[in-house]
Amino acid sequence: MTPAPHASRNLDLSVTVAGIQFKNPVIAASGTFGYGIEFEDVVHLDKLGGFVVKGLSKEPMAGNPPPRLYETAAGMLNAIGLQNIGAQAFVDEKLPKLRNIKNIVVLANVFGYTREDYERTIQILNEGEGIAAYELNVSCPNTAHGGIQFGSDPRSLDEVVATARHNTQRPLIVKLSPNVTSIAQMAYVAQEAGADAISLVNTFVAMAIDAETRKPRIANVTAGLSGPAIKPIALRMVYDAAKAVKIPVIGMGGIANAVDIIEFMLAGAAAIQIGTASYWDPCATEKIVDQLQDWCVEHKVEKLASVTGGLLTD
Ligand SMILES: Cc1cc2nc3c(=O)[nH]c(=O)nc-3n(C[C@H](O)[C@H](O)[C@H](O)COP(=O)(O)O)c2cc1C
Repeated sequence: MTPAPHASRNLDLSVTVAGIQFKNPVIAASGTFGYGIEFEDVVHLDKLGGFVVKGLSKEPMAGNPPPRLYETAAGMLNAIGLQNIGAQAFVDEKLPKLRNIKNIVVLANVFGYTREDYERTIQILNEGEGIAAYELNVSCPNTAHGGIQFGSDPRSLDEVVATARHNTQRPLIVKLSPNVTSIAQMAYVAQEAGADAISLVNTFVAMAIDAETRKPRIANVTAGLSGPAIKPIALRMVYDAAKAVKIPVIGMGGIANAVDIIEFMLAGAAAIQIGTASYWDPCATEKIVDQLQDWCVEHKVEKLASVTGGLLTD
C-alpha cells in the first residue's frame, strides 16, 4: 500500500476508547468481517484501528435458511441468524492465528438468548488470550422473558450488562439496538450497568416483498437493514446517545467514506465501525483509512480525536 499523497508527520489519527488505544478510529463491524483472519489476504489488518469478529455464542449455530441477504435501495437486508462456530472453537482455532498477526486489535462480539448464555460465552472467551474487549450484541430476543429483545427493554438490558460486567475484567462495549423509542435511555442504562463504552447502531428491523411471487425476499420474513439507507437515522441516534452518557460512543450505520466518519465524530463518536461497505468492496475499511488521512491533511486537522463532539449547532 502506497502512503497517502499528502501524509503529514504530525498527523495523529489515534483514538482511545474503553482504555484501548486504536491507531485510527476505523473498526470493521461484526458480521461483515468474518473472524478477521479470512480478510488477511485482502486487507492489511494492522492498518485498521481494529475489527470485531462475528457474533459468538456458547455453542456453534447454523443460522437461518436462505435467502438471507437482499440488496435494497442504498442498503442491504440480512437475516443470517447469527451463524457462528461457537466461542470455544473461536478460542481454539481462530485466536491462535490472530495472535500471530502483530499490531492488531481484536474485539469479540458476544450474544445469547438468556443471561446465562452471555455469562457462559464470556467465561469461555476469558480463557483466550488476544481479545482486547467484548462487544455485547443485545439485539437478540430474550427467550427467558418472552422473546423481547434484551436491547429494547431497559430492565433486561441492565440485567445482561451487569452479568457481563460481573464476569469479566476486560473492557465491555455494549452494542445498542436501534429498534427502541429512546436510544438515550438505553445508552444511559448500559453506562450505569457497567459498560466502558457503547456502540451503535445495530440493524433496523425491516422487510422486502416480491410483488410477483407475493413472497418475502428473505426466508425469515423480517431482516436487519444496514448500509447508507440507515445513515441519517444512525447519525441522529449517535448524537442522542453521546449526549446522554459520559462513556465513549462508537458510531456506525452506513459509513462508506471518510466524510461519513467525520460526520459521526462531529455527532459525538470517538470511533466508528464499517459494516456493509465491506460487502460492496472487501478492501473498503483499508481504503477509508487512507481517505481519512488525506481528509485530515487537507483540512489541517492534526489530531483527529479533537473532532469528536465538535458539531456546531448555532
Ligand atoms: C451480514 C451482516 C451480519 C451481521 N452480523 C452481526 C453480528 O453477528 N453481531 C452484531 O452485533 N452485528 C451484526 N451486524 C450488524 C453490523 O455489525 C452493523 O451494526 C450494521 O450493519 C450497521 O452498520 P453498516 O450500515 O455499516 O453495515 C451484521 C450486519 C450484517 C450486514
